[in-house]
Amino acid sequence: MLGLKLPTDPRWVNIVEKNIEEILTDHAFCEQKATSTAISLIVSFPEYTELVQEMTGLVTEEMSHFKMVHDIIIERGYTLGRDRKDDYVVQLMKFFPKGGSRTTQLVHRLLYAALIEARSCERFRLLSEELEDKKLAKFYKKLMISEANHYTMFLGFARKYGDRKEVDQKWNDLLDYEAQIMKDLGKKETVHG
Ligand SMILES: [Fe+2]
Ligand SMILES: [Fe+2]
Repeated sequence: MLGLKLPTDPRWVNIVEKNIEEILTDHAFCEQKATSTAISLIVSFPEYTELVQEMTGLVTEEMSHFKMVHDIIIERGYTLGRDRKDDYVVQLMKFFPKGGSRTTQLVHRLLYAALIEARSCERFRLLSEELEDKKLAKFYKKLMISEANHYTMFLGFARKYGDRKEVDQKWNDLLDYEAQIMKDLGKKETVHG
């Protein structure tokens, strides 16, 4: 349903389980970055009224996810660590050439956002199914559903604002590229590592 071409090796969950504090800090900053992305889309594309409306709601929702994760960090006696560089996202964002028309740039940003939501959703599903810590597993199940909706929304906007056939081709190519990146990942206790 997410279109991803390479599933995460479930053994990634074993790595995560050994360092819950690390995944929680990394996850909190994923939610912060999702908030920042939504704000940045509003700033860059103010004339896309429907997008601006949806992004406004998304800012609130993603920031509430940040708070949920931060609350868990506090509950468990941890402290939020420093932001980590997300190598997966850095790599991913090299795919589309820079420049092009405004619409092209918007479509590219929407497709990146859709894919990051899709992969996060897949990772959260794995955590919800495999974590020994049932309380945390339940939390990830809830978030998995939210991120799946975001994936659908971003992809929907890309198809709405861009040329449908062209967007579908780009999406498919991006999925192929992402699968290549994922081959070397699944070894770190981070959401996309
Ligand atoms: Fe989120
Ligand atoms: Fe999201």
